[in-house]
Amino acid sequence: MLVLGIDTSCDETSAGIVRDGKEVLANRISSQVSLHRPFGGVVPEIASRSHLKRLLPVLEEAFREAGIGPADLDAVAATCRPGLIGALLVGLTGAKALAWRFGLPFLGIDHIQAHLHAAVMSDPELAFPCVSLIASGGHTSLFYMPGPGMGLRMGRTLDDAAGEALDKAAALLGLGYPGGPAVEEAAARADRPADPPFPRPLKGRKSLDFSFSGLKTALRIRVREGGALPPEEVHRLARAFQEAVVDHLVSRCLAAVKAVGARSLAIGGGVARNRLLRKELSRRAPGLHLSFPPPDLCSDNGAMVAGLASLRLARGEKDPLDLPAAPRTTFEAWTPS
Ligand code: KG4
Ligand code: ZN
Repeated sequence: MLVLGIDTSCDETSAGIVRDGKEVLANRISSQVSLHRPFGGVVPEIASRSHLKRLLPVLEEAFREAGIGPADLDAVAATCRPGLIGALLVGLTGAKALAWRFGLPFLGIDHIQAHLHAAVMSDPELAFPCVSLIASGGHTSLFYMPGPGMGLRMGRTLDDAAGEALDKAAALLGLGYPGGPAVEEAAARADRPADPPFPRPLKGRKSLDFSFSGLKTALRIRVREGGALPPEEVHRLARAFQEAVVDHLVSRCLAAVKAVGARSLAIGGGVARNRLLRKELSRRAPGLHLSFPPPDLCSDNGAMVAGLASLRLARGEKDPLDLPAAPRTTFEAWTPS
């Protein structure tokens, strides 16, 4: 079974081709980061226009890399939600056009479900029930996964996403964009974290939700009060900020694992690349099976869309060609039993 998946939900134009739900034959990702860098964040209209320019070349590259043509496919899928609506429409319309032209089934895929599925695709040892953290520039949520293709939301951010918080922190510290890697690099140069540490968000609350806007405000105040900060102090602030973000993420993940008796913990989204996050999870959860999909399956990509579509196709599912794009995801909430 050969399935094409397209993702244009944010600032990456991507097409992936997957065989039998797991074997990634191609996963082409064309990043627009340099276009959005001058603005310190993704500009929706620029993203849509750039997807329009990039989609066909990216598709051609994916077919070439996989050594197949569209007529060899069994289905075509694209992300239909959540995301920037204009950006989503480019990939979704492209996928529908291909499906119509070649008489193939079409599937519209939830981007967050696809992120959850990246661990299922890449980790044969993933044990269920599993808890999954998806943390990127646009989303930060925790999910309970009783099995492949299933997910209930256990918690979500009440304000900024974790990646967004790191992007804003990097901008405040003059460290560049995207902020996650920039903060990580600056933190690595610090001799120690800035003192005092940043307060931990929602401390003492039982909920599994996240909050990052207070951290950002705390950093803004310290930057303002610090005047012209010497580079050593910028590095220390980056280290303390990263520690607070990672501690908040790890604490919530471990509370969720405990709440459902999870046998594994999977991490997805761009923030999953963070080395401190990986290190702290391993340190604080010895014995728990941790699953980090490879970087190209962690950030936005078409292969995870194709993987989830393959699972749905095998279950006999498909979607109509008038399926709309939507800005938000729809997940049922997990409730403690
Ligand atoms: O999943 P992604 O590629 O795109 C979406 O936002 O959907 O995630 C991008 C986010 C950015 O906010 C970026 O700063 C963050 O992931 N990120 C990182 C790292 N690499 C990327 N955050 C922390 N540490 C990293 N190494
Ligand atoms: Zn994403």
